[in-house]
Amino acid sequence: MNHIQGSLIYEGKAKRVFACENPDRVLIEFKNDATAFNAKKRSLIEGKGRLNCKISAALFQLLELNGIPTHFLELHSETLMVADKISVIPLEVVIRNIATGSLCRETPINQGTILNPPLLDLYYKDDELGDPILTEGRLQLLDIISDIQREEIEQITRSVNKILKEYFDSLDLLLVDFKLEFGTNSSGKLVVADEISPDNCRFWDKKISDSKDRILDKDRFRQDLGGVIDAYQEILKRIENDSFHPG
Ligand code: TMP
Repeated sequence: MNHIQGSLIYEGKAKRVFACENPDRVLIEFKNDATAFNAKKRSLIEGKGRLNCKISAALFQLLELNGIPTHFLELHSETLMVADKISVIPLEVVIRNIATGSLCRETPINQGTILNPPLLDLYYKDDELGDPILTEGRLQLLDIISDIQREEIEQITRSVNKILKEYFDSLDLLLVDFKLEFGTNSSGKLVVADEISPDNCRFWDKKISDSKDRILDKDRFRQDLGGVIDAYQEILKRIENDSFHPG
């Protein structure tokens, strides 16, 4: 279906959201902008938007095939996705299979520790506050979601992790950790939103043991390792070469 791009509704660090002729839908444009450390570090990475849009579309379709509700409807072009218009829940839901990143900076847990069961943490989505991690008590005080919604969000996140971890394992990739965002669509249904790409997931190449060479995600940008676009391209290539790929 053709979707006319309407006015800009919202511009974030890596995406723009446009109105559609259907008020229940939006067009999401994936930008080439890369930011890290709460946008203190910024760059333009040619081709990143296209890769993240295609990777996210494929992964949202994989999740839908496995019964997980997402905001994804269809690809409009290589950098534009048609999605449900949602009311964003201001939470960043991070689930970790292997310890690295902020978990190892902020606690004495060693890099590479296998986390079984996976560690799930909720962060408050607010750039000005630096997306702080939430305690049980702070979450209750903020009153962002009901207990039932919270249970649903955690259960969906654990299911997404199981599906994606097994899938990437079959592509010889370790899914180290990732961040999900949620929203409610016009029918009030809870859906996985935002994106699922090397910007918000960590992937390590299973066949490479060097701790830097194996990185195939935004940590290449965060840590100035170079080869950012090649890493993202490698993720898309493995997805496209897989038989599930919807084409
Ligand atoms: P962290 O180790 O820096 O807390 O990151 C955990 C996961 O969440 C990792 O896959 C990267 C992702 N992430 C985002 O998508 N957005 C963010 O703002 C941050 C800090 C992390």
